Amino acid sequence: MRIKSPGRKYGEEGAASGRNCRSLRRAQNGRPPSLGPPGGASESRACARGSFGPVLPVHSPVRHVLRSPPRLPLVGASILAADFLRLEADIRAALDAGADFIHYDVMDGHLVPNLALGTDVLKAVRRAFPDECIDAHLMIDNPGDFVGPFADAGADHLTFHIEACEGAEDARRIRDAIRARGMTAGLAIDGGTPVSRAEAMLGEFDLVLVMSIHAGFSGQRFMPESLDKMRAVRARLVPGQRLEVDGGVGPQTAPAAIEAGCDTLAAASAIFGAAAGEARAEVIRRIRGGSSPF
Ligand code: DX5
Ligand code: ZN
Repeated sequence: MRIKSPGRKYGEEGAASGRNCRSLRRAQNGRPPSLGPPGGASESRACARGSFGPVLPVHSPVRHVLRSPPRLPLVGASILAADFLRLEADIRAALDAGADFIHYDVMDGHLVPNLALGTDVLKAVRRAFPDECIDAHLMIDNPGDFVGPFADAGADHLTFHIEACEGAEDARRIRDAIRARGMTAGLAIDGGTPVSRAEAMLGEFDLVLVMSIHAGFSGQRFMPESLDKMRAVRARLVPGQRLEVDGGVGPQTAPAAIEAGCDTLAAASAIFGAAAGEARAEVIRRIRGGSSPF
C-alpha cells in the first residue's frame, strides 16, 4: 500500500497528490480512534507485552547509541535536509553540534510519493563516518528484499513501515532478518495509520517509530494528534525498547514528543536549517530539552 503525503507529491510541491490510495481514504475519515494509554509510566511498563529476544552484535557495539545510549533523549540528524553537495561537511557539522546519530531516509516513490537515498550513498556516508550510528528509515515496499543490501552498506539499525508489510508474520520475518544481520530492528507507523495496525507487535521490536507527519518529505508541520499515538505506543513498550519520533521535530515540538514518551528524536530541517556551529548546537540542545507548547 501507499502512504499518502497530503498536498505534496514528487516533483509537484504544494499541489494535491491526487492519489486514491487506502491510506488517503483512511485519513479522510479524520483522527484515529482514541489511543490514550491506560495509565501512567509505571503502569505502562507493568502491562508491557514482554521483551524481544537478544540481537547479534552490531558492526561496532560502541557506536550503536540506539542500543546503548550515552544520554537521553537521543537526537538524530535526518540528512534529508542536508546540503547534498557538501554532505560529509554538513553531517560532520551536525555531529559536532551534538547530534547522537545519523537518520538516513530511504524512499522508493511507491510506498511514499518521493524518492530518496539508496545504498550507494549510505556506503559513502559509512566510509566517511565509520564510528557513527546510522539509523536507516526504509520508506519502501518490500523492505525484506533490502535488509542484506543495507546491512552490507553499513547500517546499524533498520526501521521499516507497518504499511509495507502484509501482516504480523511478514513484519516478524523482516525483523528477524534484520537482527540476523547484526542490526537492531524498528517498526514505523505513519502519521495516517492507527496504532492498532501494529499493536500486536509493539513489544517485539528494538524501536518503534511514530511518524508525526505523513512520510515522504521533510519540512512538514508536526501533527499534534500523533502525541496520543506516542503515548499509546509508549504504554506498550518495555524499558529496553526505544520510541522514536520523526517529522516536524524542532525546539517547539520536541518537548511534547518527549513528554509523550519519545526518547529518540529525528529532525531534518530544524537541524540542517540552522547554520553550522553554535546555532545548530543550540537547536539540538533545545530539541533535547525545553517545555511543551501543547
Ligand atoms: C520524512 C522523513 C523524515 C524527514 C524529517 O518522511 O522520514 O526523517 O526527513 O524532516 P523534518 O524534520 O524537516 O520534518
Ligand atoms: Zn525519517
